[in-house]
Amino acid sequence: MSGEEAAAPQQPDQTEERTDDPTGEPLSGVPKSSEISPPAEEPAEALEAHPGEALDAPVEDEFTYRALVLTGYGGYDKVKVQVKRGKPHPKSGEVLVRVKACGLNFADLLGRQGLYELLPAPPVTPGMECSGVIEALGEEVTGRQVGDRVLVLGRHSLWQEVVAVPASQTFLMPESMSFEEAAAMPINYLTAYMMLFEMANLRAGQSILVHMAAGGVGIAVTQLCQTLEGVTVFGTASASKHETISQGGVTHPIDYRTRDYAEEIRKISPTGLDVVLDPLGGSDTHKAFSLLKPMGTLIVFGAANCVTGQKKNLLAMAKTWYNQFTINTLRLMHVNKAVCGFHLGYLEDDELITKTMNVLLELYVQGKIKPRIDSTYHFEQVGDAMRRMHERNNIGKVILLPEPKMEKEGENSEEKASPESGETKAKGEEEEVKKGETDQEEVKREEN
Ligand SMILES: NC(=O)c1ccc[n+]([C@@H]2O[C@H](COP(=O)([O-])OP(=O)(O)OC[C@H]3O[C@@H](n4cnc5c(N)ncnc54)[C@H](OP(=O)(O)O)[C@@H]3O)[C@@H](O)[C@H]2O)c1
Repeated sequence: MSGEEAAAPQQPDQTEERTDDPTGEPLSGVPKSSEISPPAEEPAEALEAHPGEALDAPVEDEFTYRALVLTGYGGYDKVKVQVKRGKPHPKSGEVLVRVKACGLNFADLLGRQGLYELLPAPPVTPGMECSGVIEALGEEVTGRQVGDRVLVLGRHSLWQEVVAVPASQTFLMPESMSFEEAAAMPINYLTAYMMLFEMANLRAGQSILVHMAAGGVGIAVTQLCQTLEGVTVFGTASASKHETISQGGVTHPIDYRTRDYAEEIRKISPTGLDVVLDPLGGSDTHKAFSLLKPMGTLIVFGAANCVTGQKKNLLAMAKTWYNQFTINTLRLMHVNKAVCGFHLGYLEDDELITKTMNVLLELYVQGKIKPRIDSTYHFEQVGDAMRRMHERNNIGKVILLPEPKMEKEGENSEEKASPESGETKAKGEEEEVKKGETDQEEVKREEN
C-alpha cells in the first residue's frame, strides 16, 4: 500500500513561522510547505462568508479572502469555506496569484479522510494545483510580470482566492488555454507523462492498460498515448463512460464493474500487455503483474481500493493492505518483468518537473493534449464536487472556483455547478446545486 493511511502531521499554527514540510519530503518542482507563504499575517479567522464582499476592504490589513479549509477528518462537511483576514505577502522570489480555478484530485478525497500523509493535519487548506493571474511580485522575481496568467503546482494550500507562491512553481499559460484547463493540467498530466515516458518508456505499437480511464489521470494517459503511433489502450471505466473514452482514444473500454477485466484483456491479447498502470492496489496489483508480457512494466501509483465512499473504510483498507503485491528479486529476474512505483508528491527533481511541464504546455499548444473538464463547482459546493468523484460520475477533471456562487436565480450560477461540456447534463444536477447551498448554510451557521 502507498502508506497514504499513515497519520498526517499537524499543520503549524499560521501565526508561527513555518519550518520545513513536516514529512521532511520536499516535493520537487513544488513549493515545500515552508515555501508557500502563510496566507495571512494574523491567524486565519472564520468570519461569516458574504459572497462578493470578501475582497472589497480598502486597507491591506482588513483584506479578506475566501479559502477552503479541511477542519477535521471525515465526510464532505469537514471541508468548509472560511474567510481569512490579512493579505498574503509575496516574499523574495514569490508572486501573489489571484486564483481563478483549482483542480480537485483523488488525493484530496484521501486527504479528507486522513489518508494522505503529505497533507498536514487539520485545520489546513488543501489544494495542489490552481490557475490565476499574478497580482504582485516579491523581490528578485524574474521572468514573471503582474498580469501574467499562470498555472501553479503546490503541495497544499492552493484552494484560496489569493495565494503567495514561489515564482518557480508557476508556469505561463498559453493564450488559448482557459483557467479551468490550466488548473486541470499539472497533477494529472505530469503523472501521466512521467509514468509513460520516463518510467515505462512507452513506444509506438505497444499495448497498455489504464484503470480509471475516464478520470483525470486516465484521460491524460490516453491522450499522451495518441502522441505515438499505434498504441493499443485498454481502459477500465464504468459502462456509461465507454462511448466518451472510445472517442478519446481508448481502443478497448472494459466495464470492470460487471466483468473480470483481466479475462477480457486475455481474450483480446493472449500474450499480455507491455505496460500496466495500477492506481488501485491490493488484488488488482496481482492481476496487473499477471497481465504483463515478458519485458513488460507495471507501475503502481495509487491505492484507490482503500476508498469506498465518503467516510474512511477500515475494512477496505485492511483488505487492500492484506492483498498487497510482493515479489522477490530472484523471481522478478526469472519472469523478465519490471515493477515500478510512482508518486509525484515524493519526486524531488525540480528540473525534471519544470522540463516536463514545459513539454506538456507545448503539446497543448500543438493541439495534441487538452484537459477534459467534467464539471465546475464553486467553493461552497466543494462537497458536491467531491461527491461527484466518490460516486464515480466524473468523466475528466472536476474543478473548483473560488468566485462565490451567484445568489440570484436565473444567473449562470447553476451552469457553473454542472458538467461544463453540456453534452450530458447530469441527472439530479439541480438537486446537487441545492445540496451545495445547504452545505454553505451549515458553514455559515458554524462560523457565526
Ligand atoms: N502517484 C501519483 O503521483 C498520483 C498522482 C495523481 C493521481 N494518482 C492516482 O491516480 C488515480 C486517479 O486519480 P484522479 O485524480 O485522476 O481521479 P479520477 O480518476 O478522476 O477519480 C475518479 C474516478 O475513478 C474511478 N474509480 C475507481 N475506483 C474508485 C474508487 N474507489 N472511488 C472513487 N472512484 C473510483 C471512477 O470512475 P470509473 O468507475 O468510471 O472508473 C471515478 O469516476 C487515483 O488512484 C490517484 O490516487 C496518483
